[in-house]
Amino acid sequence: MTTPTKQSKEPRLLDVSHETLEMAGRALKEGGLVAFPTETVYGLGADATNDEAVAKIFEAKSRPTFNPLIVHVKDAGGAALLAEFTPLAQKLSRKFWPGPLTMVLKRHQESPLSLLVSAGLDTIALRVPSHPIAHALLEIAGVPLAAPSANKSGTVSSTAGMHVASQFRDGVDIIIDAGSCEVGIESTIIELSGNSAVILRHGAITTEEIEAVIGPVADNKADEIKAPGMMKSHYAPSIPLRMNVSPEDRAKGEAYLTFGPDAPRRAALTLSKTGDLREAAANLFTMIRALDQPGIRGIAVMPIPDTGLGRAINDRLMRASAPRGEGESQ
Ligand code: TXA
Ligand code: MG
Repeated sequence: MTTPTKQSKEPRLLDVSHETLEMAGRALKEGGLVAFPTETVYGLGADATNDEAVAKIFEAKSRPTFNPLIVHVKDAGGAALLAEFTPLAQKLSRKFWPGPLTMVLKRHQESPLSLLVSAGLDTIALRVPSHPIAHALLEIAGVPLAAPSANKSGTVSSTAGMHVASQFRDGVDIIIDAGSCEVGIESTIIELSGNSAVILRHGAITTEEIEAVIGPVADNKADEIKAPGMMKSHYAPSIPLRMNVSPEDRAKGEAYLTFGPDAPRRAALTLSKTGDLREAAANLFTMIRALDQPGIRGIAVMPIPDTGLGRAINDRLMRASAPRGEGESQ
């Protein structure tokens, strides 16, 4: 007699089509996991009102359950049903939604969302993605979708369907492959649950853009505990990464990831030849992945200016270069 073993089922990597969306919508309604593209990075989605489905996300990612998830909704109306939509939130949503801004708001007491998505907090992180496929999926699923970045906890986020497929051998039902993500770096997270606005994670929308709409905002740097997932080591490739490495400080065996017109010619890869931060953000995770190869001792990254989108890029590089084991995250 043979002992039954747990069946591992590989995810189905499917191109975008009406059938794919229908199938994905069904899988979500049945409590399954669907990875889907957003304009920032791929998300690993589940019905945010279904406890068991949300629990599967934590399991598939090996994510600590104290780290809450972002919930994706169709529009600001959908968000207002789930959380207290303050005047500041309304202003920001009018300007940046759909798009890569996540707002942390007070959860409505009677919210139908699983308690697991907030990991015990009385707030909820909400965003309306602008990617047409994410939108179509929200429409067809008919429920808010909890979706962290589609990568194993602590590793580099996925900016292509293949990146997701290479990390999840089982536990995920469908991966909707729509090619590369346009922005390539995660959404900006802003906390608005009190009267003030605090940036919890630098991301695709710059602080300058936000301040142009609502005036000065605070930076969470001094109080990292507030975003439970923002711990030191994250976005980490399997080989060491060093940031702010000028051309003369490169070490032997390291691949040099450069930026800007002054970059030495013999670079492994270049984030942006012209020094365009938007292009660099879009290339960041894909290039780190491409250099994370056996035979390469480490990745050295040329200095990136710490303004605008550069702040989000440097935040990711700082965590990717932090000593491993210093807290895991997202
Ligand atoms: O661009 C993005 O935001 C992508 C796409 C898929 O939407 N998602 C993403 O999710 O980056 P994730 O789970 O990798 O990062 C979410 C971050 C975590 O650091 C988590 O701690 C924080 O959001 N977060 C979620 N809910 C929160 C809450 N209620 N209060 C404070 N931080 C929260
Ligand atoms: Mg993440």
